[in-house]
Amino acid sequence: MTYWMCEKCNFVIEIPKPPDPCPSCHIRCVFTDVTSYTPEYGGVGSLDSRLVAQRVMKKERSGKIVRFSDLIKERTSEGKEKHIPSIELIKGQGKKGKDVIEIVVGREVPHPNTVDHHIVWIQAFGAKKDGQVLDLGRAIFKPGVDKPVYTFEIDSFEYKHLFSFSYCNIHGVWEQHLEI
Ligand SMILES: [Fe+2]
Repeated sequence: MTYWMCEKCNFVIEIPKPPDPCPSCHIRCVFTDVTSYTPEYGGVGSLDSRLVAQRVMKKERSGKIVRFSDLIKERTSEGKEKHIPSIELIKGQGKKGKDVIEIVVGREVPHPNTVDHHIVWIQAFGAKKDGQVLDLGRAIFKPGVDKPVYTFEIDSFEYKHLFSFSYCNIHGVWEQHLEI
């Protein structure tokens, strides 16, 4: 399948051909192919996270720099119950006594899970006590098939903060933070 991103509003949709009009702007827009064609950025046929980040961070015509953080939804935004990732630390339940991190989107209020509207990925980062930031990986979900849950193991005593981001193809990027 092919992912298309609106040049005007950054709306992303997974369909064979670019939509006309844009489902978000409701006018005829230019769409960029943001499908991954290499294994490095989400796997072949998935959404290319690098292309999306490049698109949203590029210089606007006005000269203003748009930062990725500007795009993260406010915690007061409508629909937060369905979108903000919930991070749970389960001590000592992993292999060799490691800790388990379970990140879920829609733990209490389920998010829609259809081709048209779904959680595309969950990403995690950890900040160690010395300030080093580590990429803790990402889970990519097949709409209608996978539940938006990302589970992995860490030695949590090494970390001071955990961060998680989720991406809904309609409602954008949401974040959560857990201080350990
Ligand atoms: Fe959504």
